[in-house]
Amino acid sequence: MAHAGFIVEFNNPNSYGQQFGSHLKSLGLKAERLPHKTAWRLNYNGQFSKFKTLQRRIAKAVKRSGSALSSKPKDKKSLGHAQTTTRKVQTPTRLKSEVKMPLLEIENLRVEIGGKEILKGLDLAVNAGEVHAIMGPNGSGKSTLAYVLAGKEGYQPTAGEVSFDGRNIFEMAPDERAAAGLFLAFQYPLEIPGVATMTFLRTALNAQRKKRGEAELSTPEFLKKVREVAKKLDIGQEMLRRAVNVGFSGGEKKRNEILQMALLEPRLAVLDETDSGLDIDALKIVADGVNRLRGPSRSFIVITHYQRLLNYIVPDVVHVLSKGHIVKTGGKELALELEARGYAEYQEEIPA
Ligand SMILES: Nc1ncnc2c1ncn2[C@@H]1O[C@H](COP(=O)(O)OP(=O)(O)O)[C@@H](O)[C@H]1O
Ligand SMILES: [Mg+2]
Repeated sequence: MAHAGFIVEFNNPNSYGQQFGSHLKSLGLKAERLPHKTAWRLNYNGQFSKFKTLQRRIAKAVKRSGSALSSKPKDKKSLGHAQTTTRKVQTPTRLKSEVKMPLLEIENLRVEIGGKEILKGLDLAVNAGEVHAIMGPNGSGKSTLAYVLAGKEGYQPTAGEVSFDGRNIFEMAPDERAAAGLFLAFQYPLEIPGVATMTFLRTALNAQRKKRGEAELSTPEFLKKVREVAKKLDIGQEMLRRAVNVGFSGGEKKRNEILQMALLEPRLAVLDETDSGLDIDALKIVADGVNRLRGPSRSFIVITHYQRLLNYIVPDVVHVLSKGHIVKTGGKELALELEARGYAEYQEEIPA
């Protein structure tokens, strides 16, 4: 389709000059600051079909800095659909209602560890209610993605952006992310000597409730809840009294992670190889714990090397992560394909 040129201007009354400029740059937008004005100008000569993405990025950047947005056609002769689009840009509220925001949106995420680029421009959008599986060979960056989302120290992005429920997660401390409903079950759960599992769970739950302005649970309320959930996950009272994960078997640690998840009732749970170290019975218990929490407003990212878990937690979408990129996305049948064919073809394919 033929396309028209645009000039998109942002007024930025907050005047976060340098910061706003580099933010736009990290979104892949090159804008110049207008002299003597709190405004930025962006020349857009791209395809009209991609303009919606541009609008979305701009709207986000602008919303974040509290600035107003206006745009005008560059060339009066080439109004056509350009003008329609321009009008949309001029009414950010309408724009917002037109664009369904995913619960989690990752755009062009790049992460370096020790000078080596691990995630190389990763894009992923997860809508509320969806279960996404991320599969891929070892070393492809699956755990790195989970760590970046959690805000683990040393896992800082070098480019790109991640929004969770419309908020930039890189502006949120790890505990804020948790209180906002982001939960991560790690591949290698931490051991916390000297802290009873029960105490840990209650502290975590009440800290989150407090941060959200909700009432803390009383001891009897908490005990009732934790016992109920633990029983379903086949976790005994004795285990709840032991120090967090200390001396737990691999399977017990994973079940303990699911127990935390069930108590915290997150909006997005990321499970990093929760299936590793589980025998088939434990796997079913864990999957059952996840399935019971599935619902229209809760999403999951299930990271796994093997297809087996996905027989029990049936995903809506399956992605293949290889060498820091999502190289393929499909339905649940993609997992079966991978099981049959292995990852060899993805280890060879290196997208530019
Ligand atoms: N803390 C770290 N220091 C150095 N390299 C790391 C670190 N964490 C991960 N890596 C490297 O990043 C790559 C991706 O690792 P990871 O995210 O754990 O992959 P996956 O979970 O898909 O197996 C690997 O090459 C790994 O060696
Ligand atoms: Mg891993």
